[in-house]
Amino acid sequence: MSAELLDGAKLAGRMNMESGDRVARLLSSGRAAGLGTILVGDDPSSARYVAMKHTDCESLGISSFHEHLSSSATQSDVEAIVDRMNADPNIHGILVQLPLPEGMNQEEVLQRINPNKDVDGLHPLNLGKLVMGEPGPLPCTPAGIVELLLAHRVPVEGQHVVIIGRGLTVGRPLALLMALPRRGCNAAVSVVHRGVENFSQIVRSGDVVISAAGSPGLVTAAMIKPGAAVVGAGTSFSEGRLLSDIADDVENLAGWITPRIGGVGPMTRAMLVRNTVLAAEKVR
Ligand code: GUN
Repeated sequence: MSAELLDGAKLAGRMNMESGDRVARLLSSGRAAGLGTILVGDDPSSARYVAMKHTDCESLGISSFHEHLSSSATQSDVEAIVDRMNADPNIHGILVQLPLPEGMNQEEVLQRINPNKDVDGLHPLNLGKLVMGEPGPLPCTPAGIVELLLAHRVPVEGQHVVIIGRGLTVGRPLALLMALPRRGCNAAVSVVHRGVENFSQIVRSGDVVISAAGSPGLVTAAMIKPGAAVVGAGTSFSEGRLLSDIADDVENLAGWITPRIGGVGPMTRAMLVRNTVLAAEKVR
């Protein structure tokens, strides 16, 4: 058996076309949409992700503004840029690329972003809305994964979703989202990490397995229930090559699987674009 590919690049392309139409409508009424990004330090993969976000904006007619600070920047340097972007009427969405360098208080930076410009959905107020099931900007990777599974008609509602990893950007918000009583969610959710007893057995009980551990090859065929949907959301790089949490042998067993490139990444970016357009539309 060969798994059906969860083609994020294709779906993201369709979503971006819709976003592009909405940007054009805004522009025709004399309004623009703008994204501001902040990158601190010189991690090459973070720099690459941010660059791709700007390429997306450019191709869709969204203005984008970038601030790159060196790794010696202080907390108050970063916060001053957040304050400036909060006050800038040309910027409707702000993204601080994570992780910030060690020693910086990430939570304080995220809290400083105007919640109306929080297109990453990581401000505590917006995470609180997610907990309460209220509408608000959703974190981009979790929202993108739900859309990707929905578009491929992967059964999720009433099924067991196993999430590997409990980070702020993927695992934790994804668990909340997947458990909500909404279309494409409504699941029994387990969040695991390698320190959990019977880790492999729990993963093997998943109808949908989503790995956001950032540990290459962590999920092997022996851990997958035949026919399960498998999503690789953890990224790592080695010698410039993007590596997946999902081992190559999983493809032969899974019912659906994300490709190593063109799975979750493009969906995350399409969600960021969509959240930015929504934030711009809300400004009168
Ligand atoms: N770094 C990795 N994923 C993300 C994300 O979704 N948002 C931000 N801001 N940084 C990230």
